[in-house]
Amino acid sequence: MSASRQSQRQAVTEFDLNRFLEESTAQVNRTLDRALPSERTRPATIHKAMRYSLFAGGKRMRPALCLAAAQACGGQIADALPLACAVECIHTYSLIHDDLPAMDNDDFRRGKPTNHKVFGEGIAVLAGDALLTQAFELAAQCRGWPRYAHQDVVLELARASGSLQLIAGQVADLEGEGRRISVADLRYIHERKTSALLCCSVRLGGMSANCTAARLKALTQFGYHVGLAFQVIDDILDVTQSSEKLGKTAGKDTAAQKATYPAMVGLEKSRKIAQQLTDKAFAALKPFKGRAVALESLAGFLLNRDC
Ligand code: IPE
Ligand code: IPE
Ligand code: MG
Ligand code: MG
Ligand code: MG
Repeated sequence: MSASRQSQRQAVTEFDLNRFLEESTAQVNRTLDRALPSERTRPATIHKAMRYSLFAGGKRMRPALCLAAAQACGGQIADALPLACAVECIHTYSLIHDDLPAMDNDDFRRGKPTNHKVFGEGIAVLAGDALLTQAFELAAQCRGWPRYAHQDVVLELARASGSLQLIAGQVADLEGEGRRISVADLRYIHERKTSALLCCSVRLGGMSANCTAARLKALTQFGYHVGLAFQVIDDILDVTQSSEKLGKTAGKDTAAQKATYPAMVGLEKSRKIAQQLTDKAFAALKPFKGRAVALESLAGFLLNRDC
């Protein structure tokens, strides 16, 4: 192993991911709490419903990726935080809608009854809508940077969550239920329903640090592959873990005849694919020459997670 590779490895082992996640989660929660209307703000029902899902205890992986990318590019956490929170609002909205009876029909999420189980379907739809809108309110308040105008940031979020990306993936996911689809079609679904927003999180972190075009390209490659690996692992965990561990009902993909990697290629091959995708994510970090320790550590953590 070369000396520089060795020092990079050492930096990774020395990096305290638990501490990074604890701190980033606390900062994100504080910022979200300040940004959202209080539970008592009229109409109280909608603000209770928004906060119920947002503070139910998600892993906060997208904000962590956003902050880690900003750090890798030498940026300030304060600049990245509103964008990290915007991405988490979009993610949480997508989960509330994903769980609706008209979609995946799930009763549990983040270890609690789903939003529509507590507040009813009408309020759950509206809580999702309001969180999506909240994300753009947060993004609209950032000032922009020399290389990335305020408009670029808003465009980035809109594109990742729009009908060509996240929504496209959700549509194809629903239309794929009970059908035999190709591995290429499954890749299309994963790229859009999951990888697009993860990639956007990483890119926004870089943009908030005014990163160079070359670094943004590297972050895009990283985010794309981590995002794909994330959904392959999500599919695997649905088969291998308990509902208690996941905080959501396990085995739902099989029951709903969802197109997933384990269903199409088996568990062993799925694990191999997740590893290969993570290796590609690691390789994308090469231009950072060991300064992207948080991103590297997060990619490893996401591959080996059990919930
Ligand atoms: C679940 O995402 C939905 C997918 C895109 C697979 P997470 O596993 O990040 O869910 P939370 O945020 O921790 O609840
Ligand atoms: C959800 O994918 C993706 C989005 C919400 C955009 P899944 O349907 O696989 O997520 P889980 O398993 O319900 O968390
Ligand atoms: Mg779904
Ligand atoms: Mg689902
Ligand atoms: Mg799933």
